[in-house]
Amino acid sequence: MKDYKILGIETSCDETSASVVVNGRRVLSNIITSQIDIHKKYGGVVPEIASRNHINVISQVVDAALLESSTTMEDIDAIAVTYAPGLEGALLVGLSYGKALAFSANKKLIGINHIEGHIFANFLENENLEPPFIALIVSGGHTHIAKVLDYGKYQVLGKTRDDAIGEAYDKVARVLGLEYPGGPKIDALAKKGDPDSINFPKIYLDKDSLDFSFSGLKSSVLNYINSQKMKNIDLNKANIAASFQKAAIEVAVNKTLKAAEMENINKIVLAGGVAANSALRFEMENKCKEKNIELNYPSNVYCTDNGAMIASCGYYKFINNEFSDFDLNAKATLKLGDSQ
Ligand code: KG4
Ligand code: ZN
Repeated sequence: MKDYKILGIETSCDETSASVVVNGRRVLSNIITSQIDIHKKYGGVVPEIASRNHINVISQVVDAALLESSTTMEDIDAIAVTYAPGLEGALLVGLSYGKALAFSANKKLIGINHIEGHIFANFLENENLEPPFIALIVSGGHTHIAKVLDYGKYQVLGKTRDDAIGEAYDKVARVLGLEYPGGPKIDALAKKGDPDSINFPKIYLDKDSLDFSFSGLKSSVLNYINSQKMKNIDLNKANIAASFQKAAIEVAVNKTLKAAEMENINKIVLAGGVAANSALRFEMENKCKEKNIELNYPSNVYCTDNGAMIASCGYYKFINNEFSDFDLNAKATLKLGDSQ
């Protein structure tokens, strides 16, 4: 079989990334420049600043991805680029660059849904992983449980009705005085705390629902912090972090297992930035072992935003001849499974 090399480009939020991946599985390069240090002082991503910084580095990032993979544009079979969902201005930088490069080098263009891309991160380090499986996609902007029937074929079984889980992590972290992005900081701090010290609500919604709601948990943590402050009680930040994390993770784990049971599927993958969370991995591993379910999750670098997952997703569209036209536009919102 001929090898196909896809160049993946990702600029939907605050990471500028480009990667060359062979046959959707073998990463030759994955260059990521993060703007975290720039946005940190504002406590979150400032969209206009993100766009400007993508512009500053996009061509160096793509050049570095080609150089590190020892490929030239001639060796590339198609360009896959995130076009939705995300910050519109940020998406436009990667998409415009990808289009211009594809047009000038006479390559096919493949627009990628960022949420779909996260799922494909799972294929980068596990050559035996094949659909069908249940995917828990947990990031700063999304919380979904999806049934992945085949490459590019999804059935969304549940999603958040309000905040994304990563958003709740970042908000709680901010109130605790931890720097953006707060998810990894809460993860680390929670290890020093007692997860049973504060009883925050575990919100399951209706019985059998696979939807999520994290705004109630977030408000409950914020109210707890305010009431402690009003009583002049010193905050035990580690206990707050551990108890919040327990409430969030327990619901995510139980609903994902329930989805696997309901769909009669014994394979689960984790995806998105929050899939880097050590408590989520630990709980999931234990429960999956108990129930004889196969579990896969990407290395940390492929959990958060990266070009390699976009290139992998692009490969499976490439072999199905699913290409995009050059009038493809960036979209701030797009659901998993929706077409362009
Ligand atoms: O996938 P991602 O890079 O961007 C989006 O598509 O949103 O995810 C970023 C999110 C942030 O909310 C960040 O706090 C969270 O992932 N995150 C974590 C951890 N690492 C990143 N949350 C909890 N524990 C972690 N270890
Ligand atoms: Zn993402």
